[in-house]
Amino acid sequence: MRLRAMLRALRLIGPREALRAVGYTLFRDRLDFRLPPAGPFLPPGNLLVATPVPGGGRFRFAQGELEVRFLAPDLVRITWKGGPLPIPYAIARDDWPPVQVSWDPADGGYALGSEELEVVVGTDGGLLFRDAAGHILRRESPPRRRGQEWVHRADLRPEEHLYGLGERAAPLNLRGGEYCMWNSDPLGGYGPGVDPLYLGIPVYLGLHPEGSYLLFYENSYRAVFRFRDRAQAWFSGGCLRYYFIPGPPDRALRRYTELTGRPSLPPRWALGYHQSRWGYRTQEEVRSLREKFQAHDLPLSAIHLDIDYMDGFRVFTVDRERFPDLAGLARELADGGVHLVAILDPGVKRDKGYDLFREGLEAGHFCTLPGGKGAKRPLYAQVWPGWCAFPDFTDPAARSWWGDQYPRLLQLGIAGFWHDMNEPSVRTDWGDSTFPLPTRHALEGRGGDHREAHNLYGLLMNRAACEGLRRHCPEKRPFLLSRSGWAGLQRYAWNWTGDTESTWETLRQTVPTVLGLGLSGIPYTGPDIGGFSGHPSAELYIRWFQLAAFLPFFRTHSAWDVPPREPWTFGEPALSIVRNFLRLRYRLLPYLYTLAWETSRTGHPLVRPLFWPDGRDPAFWDVQDAFFLGEALLVAPALEEGARSRQVTLPAGRWYDFWDDTPYDGPGTVLIPAPLERIPLLVRAGSILPMEEDGRLALHLYPPEGGEGGGMLYSDAGDGYGPWRVDRFRLHRSGEALEMSWETEGDYPFPWPGVRVLGHGLRSRRIRLDGREYEPARMPVEAGPFRVLRLEG
Ligand code: GLC
Repeated sequence: MRLRAMLRALRLIGPREALRAVGYTLFRDRLDFRLPPAGPFLPPGNLLVATPVPGGGRFRFAQGELEVRFLAPDLVRITWKGGPLPIPYAIARDDWPPVQVSWDPADGGYALGSEELEVVVGTDGGLLFRDAAGHILRRESPPRRRGQEWVHRADLRPEEHLYGLGERAAPLNLRGGEYCMWNSDPLGGYGPGVDPLYLGIPVYLGLHPEGSYLLFYENSYRAVFRFRDRAQAWFSGGCLRYYFIPGPPDRALRRYTELTGRPSLPPRWALGYHQSRWGYRTQEEVRSLREKFQAHDLPLSAIHLDIDYMDGFRVFTVDRERFPDLAGLARELADGGVHLVAILDPGVKRDKGYDLFREGLEAGHFCTLPGGKGAKRPLYAQVWPGWCAFPDFTDPAARSWWGDQYPRLLQLGIAGFWHDMNEPSVRTDWGDSTFPLPTRHALEGRGGDHREAHNLYGLLMNRAACEGLRRHCPEKRPFLLSRSGWAGLQRYAWNWTGDTESTWETLRQTVPTVLGLGLSGIPYTGPDIGGFSGHPSAELYIRWFQLAAFLPFFRTHSAWDVPPREPWTFGEPALSIVRNFLRLRYRLLPYLYTLAWETSRTGHPLVRPLFWPDGRDPAFWDVQDAFFLGEALLVAPALEEGARSRQVTLPAGRWYDFWDDTPYDGPGTVLIPAPLERIPLLVRAGSILPMEEDGRLALHLYPPEGGEGGGMLYSDAGDGYGPWRVDRFRLHRSGEALEMSWETEGDYPFPWPGVRVLGHGLRSRRIRLDGREYEPARMPVEAGPFRVLRLEG
């Protein structure tokens, strides 16, 4: 596998370039060479002194110091001192109101409790976490330390399931595996089992019969997590700081994203379809691409420009020969609602004639090599343009300088930016394809090296960009797409799952990968439809497209050396099927945009595992071939070659087939048709699904089995920060009648010329609209905004 990936990477970059990288690789090896630390791992020893402090306590051990601090009743921060404290790059909130914490002796140690959580500190440094009902959520052994390393262990129950750790090509439940935290470019094209990938996040969710919790290590050093009989985390440096949150997944994610930040509302167009390819080489090619989308009647929101648009791969430049009038092209496309997104890599070509390089060099914005008679020598490594220097995004001055470059492309009408190679990834012939570990970083003036800064590099590139865009284009919402990042990336950027192989296995992997990212706080992600590195069959492309139509980021992209992959290249019936799913995606935009708004307030992923929201039913802990999209939809993609039906594990309650209203009752497993032209898509009884149909708002009403139901719709201008409105629909069943009431909050005027209410699985003999008889007494009801719709039947 590895050899295949290497050969493929070689093909993508070319043998000459690979040969040139030998020197750098040897150089990196020389700098990275270190003797492994000797000696045993030592525990903290006995507890000597315990001191209560507001919101927590301090504990001195024979060889260690611990601080426990409640930031909220269900959020506690644990810090084992030793090694540098983390710079709070991941942290979005530090103004926590005081928490009342009780302090009691317990078994020779101390129990610290809030109304939701008790932390027991043992005399040996072992910790126990209990919820308000007294259930043990987690039992930790005393951490052990050797040199700068830490090993942290906790017991796992036999049934315990674990999820998250950022982007993983692993099963949804991570139990049983070993995962590395070191953002890496797997090179060439990856499939299931490859680890690490581009975007690791040291956060995980644990579910077991006694309850659930979320744990986040605020430590950016290389780490290895092993989830076997016990959960073990090994960190190569830093202090051991982590946060523990008890509670069900939905509440835990809400807290975690209060701590690390929530995504702001994206521009509405970003939720549409994006077309991309490495190899759209000229302005004409892009223009004709757009025309073909029109000719084939395929909606489109964005075209991505890969590295081909740049002048010699110099970042923030445009090749004037191949793109003589990029601004004109951008205007033309924007008139038809198509946005241009341009790729940017962090490497800045070493070229004295290139102003960006000169500026960066003179101002000292690049990462440097250690030592050398006090002289600051930039680190040079190779990426697409050859030798490059790399901005040190851990330096506020470099971030602000980098952020100031975006107007170069904003002026040309570029609407969004796609950040690649920011693990950071550079050309090597073996080993780690990144910077030498001793590379120096500013780390906000405190100073440090690449061991600490590596995993932060992508996060901070996006921060630099996001802050720059807010400064230079304050009237627009930034749209950033990033391959790498760390905890908190959700505040700045979307993500895609990188260079995947074009195989059925990798299609199947997409679902757990996206779910795992969502549970790690990254709600906006999606794959290269069809896989990056190969050529999918028409069937594989169709199935991938059908899945991605329900994922937050919806884009086709591929490498330059595979056949073109626009929807029409597969002929019929692929083209018609793709067109239908594209249209469905656009019909669903009111629902998706409302979910995006909710996510900006809750941090909840748009795409959720079937154990969502409370994680209590073990029957769903391993389901990784289906997911919820928001509360109303259950998506069960076809993931097997040749499959024309599939089993779906249904959660409790009634579910309606989206395509033909067939009702299914859960819990249980049902077989649902999945002909090539559709995938199982179910709507929860009691939902109101807002859709856009024929320029109108269509409210699809699925009656609740009993009692209540409802839905929501968020609207605004689609970009910028102007007025908004939220329309809330409630469903209430009383006897034979079903009432739908409508309330509105906010100042944005109702943006639709009319409303159509469609009933599913409903019969009514009498319809009353705001107290008046509605004729004919049949659905759909066509109206303007109303207050109460009453269906009697
Ligand atoms: C990386 C990206 C890929 C892009 C290519 C060229 O491999 O992951 O999406 O097309 O670089 O820029």
